[in-house]
Amino acid sequence: MEALVVYDSFFGNTERIAQSIGNVLGRPEDVGIARVVDVKPEQLDGLKLLIVGSPTRAFSPSPAIKKFLKSIAKNGLKGVKAAAFDTRVTEEEIDSAVFILRILVNIFGYAAKPITDRLVKKGGQLIVPPEGFFVHGMEGPLKEGELERASDWAKQILEKQ
Ligand SMILES: Cc1cc2nc3c(=O)[nH]c(=O)nc-3n(C[C@H](O)[C@H](O)[C@H](O)COP(=O)(O)O)c2cc1C
Repeated sequence: MEALVVYDSFFGNTERIAQSIGNVLGRPEDVGIARVVDVKPEQLDGLKLLIVGSPTRAFSPSPAIKKFLKSIAKNGLKGVKAAAFDTRVTEEEIDSAVFILRILVNIFGYAAKPITDRLVKKGGQLIVPPEGFFVHGMEGPLKEGELERASDWAKQILEKQ
């Protein structure tokens, strides 16, 4: 397997984005799309591309994604191209919620950036900037057009291969 899209998802939104990305990256024989709890350490062996996606939970990646990133050996991603995405509540909904939420979001941000930092720390080569895809409310559904935006993001990744 050449590429792996690892994701976590509570309500299915991040899973749909992960599938949209994986489908653009290549055929199922070449591109795995795996829920983080199902990923075995040996699936990273010989990998060329690793994409990690998480729902943003309290401004951070999910606990299972954090655990997965922590479990990767030092320099375990040397020679591996890497990128990260998250799902998050729409800007409009954050702006119309309690004022403090906008301030907290501005300070603490979303899941994708800390994931990329961790991937790079483990030796990965970041090939596109972290990206966020929007959901309505706490449980979704995805904002209209986000699956297409995910495909476009994956096409940018393909161009870097
Ligand atoms: C406990 C909890 C905390 C959340 N924290 C945030 C947050 O800090 N920022 C944000 O944009 N969305 C937040 N959300 C909304 C999630 O990002 C949303 O549930 C997620 O994108 C849905 O993806 P999933 O269906 O793959 O789980 C939170 C949702 C829950 C349930």
